[in-house]
Amino acid sequence: MSAEPLLRVENLRTVFRTSGGEVAAVDGVSLEVPRGRTLGIVGESGCGKSVLSLSIMRLLAHPGRIASGRVLLEGRDLAALSAAEMRAVRGRDIAMIFQEPMTSLNPVHRVGFQIAEAIRAHEPRASAAELRERGIAALKRVRIPSPERRFDEYPHQLSGGMRQRVMIAMALACSPKLLIADEPTTALDVTVQAQILDLLRELQAETGMSIILITHDLGVVAEMADEVAVMYAGRVVERAPAAALFEDPQHPYALGLLGSIPRLDEERERLLAIAGAVPPPFALPKGCRFHPRCPFAEEACRAEAPLLREVVPGHAVACRRAPVEQSLAA
Ligand SMILES: Nc1ncnc2c1ncn2[C@@H]1O[C@H](COP(=O)(O)OP(=O)(O)OP(=O)(O)O)[C@@H](O)[C@H]1O
Ligand SMILES: [Mg+2]
Repeated sequence: MSAEPLLRVENLRTVFRTSGGEVAAVDGVSLEVPRGRTLGIVGESGCGKSVLSLSIMRLLAHPGRIASGRVLLEGRDLAALSAAEMRAVRGRDIAMIFQEPMTSLNPVHRVGFQIAEAIRAHEPRASAAELRERGIAALKRVRIPSPERRFDEYPHQLSGGMRQRVMIAMALACSPKLLIADEPTTALDVTVQAQILDLLRELQAETGMSIILITHDLGVVAEMADEVAVMYAGRVVERAPAAALFEDPQHPYALGLLGSIPRLDEERERLLAIAGAVPPPFALPKGCRFHPRCPFAEEACRAEAPLLREVVPGHAVACRRAPVEQSLAA
């Protein structure tokens, strides 16, 4: 494995223009994804996970834009590419799958046509016969039974799990180096969710692709991610190898998230739930953005925003208290 990560995001800031002025939904995020590895990004609703992934893909809808920072894919800054250059990167180098496969597949076109279009976007000279063959191969690759028959069906003829497999097949049709999966299994029931996660893991082992996996679900992260970034109000507040995060969470927000995992071995179903919600980008508190919800907040936390700093090698935390010895739950 090369030392240079596949993707390096540096100090990325993404803003939206609102009636009240510009607000940053992603505010100084830095992270790395090594080749062949999975980065999990977790955080509650509204913390900026999707805006971050859309920024990396350069798929932000107006009035969103990248205000500053770099998105280096193999050293090339995607944030600085033209729209045409970026179209060539999308699909070929980076692909994305979303939460709700029904809204991402076009209901009026057959599944096979949509896969063929995804391939043709990057290989305009492929013949119809080649596209069909490659499309069927793509369906086979994501373990869809009777791929020849499915190729000619419409999205509504497929189950939710099958549609998500089709989305994965489309995303992987041109063998991207990086797959961004934004809540890829939340809409699916637990059994199907486990199958899709298994599939992603198998495909990663086959292809060596890197994955950014965005989820609310810490159970999914524990199972899938090598490294985890915890986001809060547009920032990364903790970043660590997955095992280290689960064994030794440092940020009070991470502790809170972990505490809200249902523990079957405990009498109480929930150990801790964090009161309140993520503040929207137009109403951020001064100082540490988590302080209004933090059980440990002190005067200094209200005054000054803590920087993300390494407290143990490989484990970075944006909290004045870090490093702390014992967890909240103890
Ligand atoms: N087009 C937009 N204009 C203004 N604000 C936006 C826009 N898109 C997103 N935001 C705001 O940016 C913040 C981050 O949103 P984002 O969708 O990235 O959250 P998320 O972490 O993906 O949440 P979820 O878990 O619900 O998917 C939210 O406060 C959201 O309201
Ligand atoms: Mg989202």
